[in-house]
Amino acid sequence: MVLCYIIYIKNIYSLRISLLEKGGDPFWLDMMQNENKSDHHCHLYEGKNNILIVRRAQEFQMTLQFNQPVNPSDNFQIEFYIGKTFLHISTNVQQGDACVVGITPSADAIIGKYYTSVAVIGSNGISRTQKDSGTDFYLLFNAWASNDEVYMPNEEERQEYVMNENGYIYQEESGDGRQWYYGQFVEGILDACIKILDDSHMPLVNRGDAVKVCRIGSAMMNSQDDRGVLVGNWSDDYSLGTAPTFWIGSDQILLQYVNKGPVSFAQCWVYAGTFNTFLRCLGIPARVITNFNSAHDNTGNIVTDLVFNSVGNVLELNERLTRDSIWNYHCWNEAYLSRFDLPAYQNLGGWQVVDSTPQETSDGYYRCGPCSVKAIKEGMLGYQFDAPFVFAEVNSDVYKYKLNSQTGKTELLSVDTTYVGMKILTKSIGGNNYGPMDITGTYKYPEGSSKDKETMKNAGRTYKAHLQYDDEQGVEMTLEIPQKRVKIGQNFQMAVVFRNLSEDTRTIHGLLVGSTIYYTNIQRAQFKQETFDVTLKPMETSRIQVVVLAQNYMPKLGCQSSLRFVVTAKSMENNQDLMAIQIIVVNGPSLFEQMSGPAKVNQEIFVKVEFTNPFPFSLYNVRMAMQGPNFISYREKLYSEIATGTSITWMESSVPTRSGNTMVYAVLDCSVLGNVQGNWAIGIQA
Ligand SMILES: *[C@@H]1O[C@H](CO)[C@@H](O)[C@H](O)[C@H]1NC(C)=O
Ligand SMILES: *[C@@H]1O[C@H](CO)[C@@H](O)[C@H](O)[C@H]1NC(C)=O
Repeated sequence: MVLCYIIYIKNIYSLRISLLEKGGDPFWLDMMQNENKSDHHCHLYEGKNNILIVRRAQEFQMTLQFNQPVNPSDNFQIEFYIGKTFLHISTNVQQGDACVVGITPSADAIIGKYYTSVAVIGSNGISRTQKDSGTDFYLLFNAWASNDEVYMPNEEERQEYVMNENGYIYQEESGDGRQWYYGQFVEGILDACIKILDDSHMPLVNRGDAVKVCRIGSAMMNSQDDRGVLVGNWSDDYSLGTAPTFWIGSDQILLQYVNKGPVSFAQCWVYAGTFNTFLRCLGIPARVITNFNSAHDNTGNIVTDLVFNSVGNVLELNERLTRDSIWNYHCWNEAYLSRFDLPAYQNLGGWQVVDSTPQETSDGYYRCGPCSVKAIKEGMLGYQFDAPFVFAEVNSDVYKYKLNSQTGKTELLSVDTTYVGMKILTKSIGGNNYGPMDITGTYKYPEGSSKDKETMKNAGRTYKAHLQYDDEQGVEMTLEIPQKRVKIGQNFQMAVVFRNLSEDTRTIHGLLVGSTIYYTNIQRAQFKQETFDVTLKPMETSRIQVVVLAQNYMPKLGCQSSLRFVVTAKSMENNQDLMAIQIIVVNGPSLFEQMSGPAKVNQEIFVKVEFTNPFPFSLYNVRMAMQGPNFISYREKLYSEIATGTSITWMESSVPTRSGNTMVYAVLDCSVLGNVQGNWAIGIQA
């Protein structure tokens, strides 16, 4: 990429040419890094050279020191090299042979790395100072400036969405998930983000446009079609890379991308976590959100289909036809943008969906958004970008069909309008973990409200008035589970319950299938199949107890699996088809942490992480990692075997150099066990 344009400011100050002609370097440029960086909320960016980092639409200052007193008729100009943009001077103070110049980059200035030069204009033409990395600077988006398109009015929100380096990504409706280290200020990350923009080949002139930067970012975070940052893998074999559950944060990923190219492997929360770092690092307010029961609308009809085969008397979920239709959860990002590109009267500024997990192509590339959250709520799907896809993710109706294998025809069984997008969570504001904030209401009006109906109408969703299914045939079947999550290795019971029979006796033939699934709802393996027959007298309720044994599901679990139970049944007298689905999350064993005492600056401290193998078998090639930002640098350890019932203890020492709150993260992974993690808040005293 060639930096091709020269931007200069005319008439900043004048300098008699004779000063230069006396030889030697007439200038000394002081970028006033420390003052500027803290004024611009950029003091946390780490780096050995203390290079200047500032935000656009806000003044920064530099001092020009001359080798002789300046005179009003002297003529020079300061030049900033990167792209075609105008920088304005707002102050201009003379102090003998030095002058402090205030520079305010315009609110749509290109973001990236600039270099600075001073040109002196004389009778012999222009002479310039040498390029000097000491006077380079980075220019970023500015959430503090009211005329910047990423302006965010509230300081608490800016502290969270631009400045917070730690986050939490939800993976269960109950509010559990994983801590994630964004690390946007870690040395090398800003350069990595700029390299991503360079690698995208997006023209330099577009880099002042936050909408375009978000859109190209969503394409570049995945390696599909552009050799971007992360390689997705939803198999269970991560031997050629790092398991998605093994990442602690984005910094290791982005640094690895800079050194070696695309990084293996990612799933949705890894894409979202890394993308969040990219956005915050460049100054765009951003957060990671999780949509529970996220529809993946393959057919583009805002309807998600579950198809059941008719097998003998009962139905069975058709894995192939249902594939990929509803993920248990899906993470994406929101970026806070004014959307100057959309009609102002529609008021579509604010949070925008951007999603970098490769699901569907958009205009030929795997990318998604930015798409106004407000537009989704109102069903206004005509505004760029990808609104119909996002709308389907949170609003699809689930149509359950029965496939008749003889005729090949499907028959509608039931419609569920509340299942998809049932909850949308993000981390609440402040600190490292203040629990989830429910933002479902920003995407949807309450189900069934008149506003909701209006939204559906706007979205062009036609309610099928002629639906032929009938829920009122008298038998109701539910699957009752003890809880939504079980601890790995735990046996538990469920009950299939039949209620409210008609006035007649009913004979029911049923099938229960238990499978382990990925979070994408794709079946990994079946571990249980049970048929049952029940005869119900009129108005009777009957419960069938089902015992689930750990020894059955454990060998089929793999990494980060859940258990899915599908019960299908038929009431023989009236041919009524019944079905129920439940998903139970399996939680892995825990890691434990201990510190040798309170953490203090300049005092050595020991951190101990412990793990005990709770399984009746040995674990082999167990990989562990530990990291504590500003405390313990990222490190890994490999244990060739952890025998059943035995514990390992990993101890690391640190001499903290910075006071404040931080986290210690630890993860553990081996081929039969993933998603073992622990994280602990640490306060370092001054
Ligand atoms: C996932 O990774 C494994 C190796 O770790 C590889 O064999 C497999 O092909 C990958 N799957 C995809 C879809 O890339
Ligand atoms: C039938 O359902 C109603 C409410 O839906 C409930 O009050 C009643 O107890 C049920 N009857 C049986 C037999 O379960």
